[in-house]
Amino acid sequence: MTDLLAKLYPAHLATLKQRSDAALARSGHDHLVIAAGRPRMQFLDDRPYPFAVNPHFKHWLPVTRAPGSWIVYTPGQRPKLVYLQPHDYWHVVPDAPAGYWVEHFDIAIIRDADEAKAHLPKDTARCAIIGEDNAALAGYVPNNPQVALNYLHWHRAYKTDYELGMLRVASKLGVRAHRAAEAAFRNGASEYDINTAYLNAVHETENELPYSNIIALNQHGAVLHYTDLNRAPPTHSNSLVIDAGASFHGYAADITRSYASKQASEFQALVDAVDSAQKGFVEKVQNGTNYADLHVRAHHVLAGILRDQGFIRMSAEAAVASGVSSVFFPHGLGHPIGLQVHDVGGFQKDESGGTIAKPPGHPYLRMTRTLEPRMVVTIEPGLYFIDLLLAELKAKPEARDIAWDKVEHFRQYGGIRIEDDVACTDSAPENLTREAFAAA
Ligand code: GLY
Ligand code: MN
Ligand code: MN
Repeated sequence: MTDLLAKLYPAHLATLKQRSDAALARSGHDHLVIAAGRPRMQFLDDRPYPFAVNPHFKHWLPVTRAPGSWIVYTPGQRPKLVYLQPHDYWHVVPDAPAGYWVEHFDIAIIRDADEAKAHLPKDTARCAIIGEDNAALAGYVPNNPQVALNYLHWHRAYKTDYELGMLRVASKLGVRAHRAAEAAFRNGASEYDINTAYLNAVHETENELPYSNIIALNQHGAVLHYTDLNRAPPTHSNSLVIDAGASFHGYAADITRSYASKQASEFQALVDAVDSAQKGFVEKVQNGTNYADLHVRAHHVLAGILRDQGFIRMSAEAAVASGVSSVFFPHGLGHPIGLQVHDVGGFQKDESGGTIAKPPGHPYLRMTRTLEPRMVVTIEPGLYFIDLLLAELKAKPEARDIAWDKVEHFRQYGGIRIEDDVACTDSAPENLTREAFAAA
């Protein structure tokens, strides 16, 4: 894999240079200066929060643990890495730069964060400085020019071959851990122990993961972002929603599976229906598909499942028009993914900025762009039995067309979500997640 990445890296870097040239021309700057960032301290304490590197920084390099470092790119010149390796006997000092990317950079090692200034362009007014406010050095305050960011964020949606390679590996890691977690579920493990099985298999610390694992047994599956990890196993584990990812050099996998116990065949039937609907949505990850349209289409398909399986008595059309489908599917179909699990630029109108509005009534959708080759998105439909939303529905006229006994009975299972990471190509979509499951 490293060999392949090494081969793909020069073209990736060339793409980043081209994009940066264009972004700087638009914003009227001469230098792109990217701060890796600095750890943030907890209030009244000397404990840092986990460090999360600036995604712009890890776009250039497979380096995620380099607080205090900087990248400088000036069009026409080799990029420069100003790399902080402090004299520090309290903490682990970042490793010396090594690997396939090193030969493409001029590298200056510094021992103190402030020393970076000596290696940054002198004319600070000519710098587009990308970073968080706490990365600022005297004279070098991140200005994050919106014009440049819009351009970079728009184009970040189109993954290079190198990035697709990174995302494939992240998916493989995640899938390996999902299989271990499923086995733990089938053995009756607690949420906490399923999480431990996951972590052991993914071989990443919780801070390295792209987001906090969601491991929800039984009715906990109704909490979309359930992150408690109950220590005690329930008497019967009849359902599991596991939404857990993996990182590879800062690229994310975002994977959700829903399982039913052998005893819960009625719930398995609903899982199977969502699974087959999900595969249908994945098929639509094609050049020219508008993602917001796909989201609305998903509402119709999921409402059809609710009707076919006897949860609602109205037509799918009526369920969507009245908002009933949103009671059972109250989140977006998915989002762009890459350097961030919820990657940037999902609503952007074009490379200059702007916003493509979400369809009315769908406030949680995270992607409204039209799909094109090299975009990678998640497809994550779900159906849930959420007390809060069901109580609201009970007070509405549509309540008469709901089979409340059946809904009530399914509350014990919480919900279902099935999520794959899918690359749009010139032809058939590449399902990174299912291909990893098939290969595992
Ligand atoms: N894991 C968060 C999400 O699926 O978007
Ligand atoms: Mn997701
Ligand atoms: Mn997810």
